Amino acid sequence: MARSGKVAVIGAGFYGSTTAQRLAEYDIFETVVLTDIIEGKPEGLALDMNQSRPVEGFETKIVGQTTGRSGEGYEAIAGSGIVVITAGLPRKPGMSRMDLIETNAKIVRQVSENVAAHAPGAVVIVVSNPLDEMTALAQLATGFPHQRVLGQAGMLDTARFTHFVAEELGVPITSVTTLTLGSHGDTMVPVPSACEVDGKPLAELLPAGKIEELVTRTRNGGAEVVALLKTGSAYYAPSAAAARMARAVAEDSGAILPVCAWVDGEYGISGVYLGVEAELGRTGVRRVVERDLTPDERAALGQAAEAVRAKQADVQTL
Ligand SMILES: NC(=O)c1ccc[n+]([C@@H]2O[C@H](COP(=O)([O-])OP(=O)(O)OC[C@H]3O[C@@H](n4cnc5c(N)ncnc54)[C@H](O)[C@@H]3O)[C@@H](O)[C@H]2O)c1
Repeated sequence: MARSGKVAVIGAGFYGSTTAQRLAEYDIFETVVLTDIIEGKPEGLALDMNQSRPVEGFETKIVGQTTGRSGEGYEAIAGSGIVVITAGLPRKPGMSRMDLIETNAKIVRQVSENVAAHAPGAVVIVVSNPLDEMTALAQLATGFPHQRVLGQAGMLDTARFTHFVAEELGVPITSVTTLTLGSHGDTMVPVPSACEVDGKPLAELLPAGKIEELVTRTRNGGAEVVALLKTGSAYYAPSAAAARMARAVAEDSGAILPVCAWVDGEYGISGVYLGVEAELGRTGVRRVVERDLTPDERAALGQAAEAVRAKQADVQTL
């Protein structure tokens, strides 16, 4: 594929900088723009990343740009087809994602307004936490159609689940398929009926109690990393997920990925951002893909929707 287009990553912290580097290493974009409000940080990181080009052999250029809260510097993202919003505080040990809501809502609202002003045609991928709520807020604040604003969580939760299953069974990671839907948090919905190892149902390979243990570890996957790091949260697996989503959009690939998308009637649920499988393309979410769920899985998804619906309504006032 020819190299083309511009992708912007807002927030040059751990999540944003690793995402920018991954996007650049794909070597499919003309430019990756990395911004932050800390003066010099995005420029310094971009310079460092550009110096990896001869070693890794990619042509994509990384542009760093300090931005001001009133939108100074946002001209740098003009013409971006995709914007990944990573700006916002990460958790500290013992904090829930929801403890970040007030602080990050202010940041995500301000960033989204500037994105709408400077990259009005972009597909927006949100990663700031609490994820489902910040995705809903970014759609409100940009005023973009729902299908052009989506969030990253399900790919990460699914990747964590897959990793734990592969470790438990001692099998190659590529032989394992798992799936989580629902919200990025307590109401994450694992989908055992979609979990297989080399085509064999997971339930035939592991006892129910062990699967439940791995599901619990997946649900707490972010907190486990936060507790070990003591400062900051996970970013290698999260950035891999966000970068893959951006790539699916850039390549108009039609990949079906678990993402946080606007649900409008699928699974009998409407009017909420929720973790579901969606087909991604140049326009963002082409469609939400409904799969056959067991009655228990369907009920859990319905409960997750109601839990996030209440919180998403709250963000309108933040
Ligand atoms: N969705 C997920 O699966 C997932 C996974 C991991 C982390 N996260 C979230 O991603 C976010 C970023 O995490 P991180 O590890 O990169 O944190 P970090 O603290 O390393 O970086 C955050 C960056 O955002 C910048 N920032 C703050 N306000 C800004 C603004 N108005 N405009 C531009 N930049 C601004 C900060 O200066 C900082 O550099 C957090 O909210 C974290 O909880 C989400």
